Amino acid sequence: MSYNFDEYIDRYGTESTKWDAFENRFPGLDAKGCIPMWVADTDFRAPQEVIDAIVAKAEFGIFGYPKGKGKSFDQAVTGWIFQRHGWQLDPEWIVPTTGVVPAITHAIQAFTQEGDGVLIQPPVYYPFKNTIQKNKRRVIENPLLLDEETEQYEIDFADFEHKLKDPKTKLFILCNPHNPVGRVWSEEDLTKIGELCLKHQVLVFADEIHSDLILKGSRHIPLGMLDERFNQHVITAYSASKTFNLAGLQTSVVILPERRIRQRYLEQLEINQARDINIFGTIALEAAYTHGADYLKAFLEHVESNLDYALDYTEKHLQGVRIIKPQGTYLVWFDFRGTGLTADQIDALIIEKAKVAVDLGRWFGEEGAGFLRFNFACHRSTLVKALEQIKEALKAL
Ligand SMILES: Cc1ncc(COP(=O)(O)O)c(C=O)c1O
Repeated sequence: MSYNFDEYIDRYGTESTKWDAFENRFPGLDAKGCIPMWVADTDFRAPQEVIDAIVAKAEFGIFGYPKGKGKSFDQAVTGWIFQRHGWQLDPEWIVPTTGVVPAITHAIQAFTQEGDGVLIQPPVYYPFKNTIQKNKRRVIENPLLLDEETEQYEIDFADFEHKLKDPKTKLFILCNPHNPVGRVWSEEDLTKIGELCLKHQVLVFADEIHSDLILKGSRHIPLGMLDERFNQHVITAYSASKTFNLAGLQTSVVILPERRIRQRYLEQLEINQARDINIFGTIALEAAYTHGADYLKAFLEHVESNLDYALDYTEKHLQGVRIIKPQGTYLVWFDFRGTGLTADQIDALIIEKAKVAVDLGRWFGEEGAGFLRFNFACHRSTLVKALEQIKEALKAL
């Protein structure tokens, strides 16, 4: 089957957060008429096999309680993760959840107490901080450092270990690939992370939701695959939602290799009454992981080509702006600090003047001031229009 990411699909008026609900996310800014390039979903249809599977179930017309994950579901997950990353999962380790953020929340509740510390690496996907705080745990931060030579973010390992050493630090949320800075952590980085977390007995939640979305020249290594000892100390999350645009179906899986950790996690799911998963979500995940390889290949080519276009355009036309070249994800971290504007001025310029709705860098932590996150999982014309509007806004300064 061939896939067409050149078809423009009008999503206005389709109950989409990205296209229909951005006004309430930008208080004080007039986001009306903005081009939506925020929220991490794509402007494309899911693979036809996913649509067909959902339609078949819908036409059956009986939507009673599903029995939970079955053999074919497990086969789809184990097959996909082995095919993508070479990691052989035991079906017993796989537990479906209603999304990755809920899965993180269950882990926080299961493995930490109120007042304990949970470590994150800002600038990072902001719901991490939000769920830690909402659960009355302490947010411990190990900010990433931007290396000006490589123009890539790196982990400050001295500070990382310092934060792990605190006996109150109980859980570390790893984001790999990292949203928003686009790093795909190397084997060397992951080995250090795994060793240090073992040494200080800090459990790891590895959010690998973006791990299908690896760009040319990089390879994703699941932390749990790297070393049997890490495997016993890591909870990993995967989902088909980013890759195949299924986020509205709210389904993901967590991988829990260690028996006692798995038991405790399942107990927490019982406490939270969160064992049941929507039937359309499991059907869609199974179909995507079974039939989605060609779709993913074509989608990644599209994202790469949008990225190449933007890199070239930015260098030629957007003075003072640079792209931190992502190794993974379809999210692209733009550095606007070279324009000499303040973070407030940058945010206002891009949203109010250029009329492009993006994720503001500061949403990801103070380290994000002066940066903006763009979503490149869009039609080329959307990207071209956004870049041209930014060029005009910068020119009018
Ligand atoms: C790193 C990361 N984790 C989790 C999520 C959301 O996952 P879910 O919708 O399954 O809760 C996102 C969505 O953008 C993400 O970027």
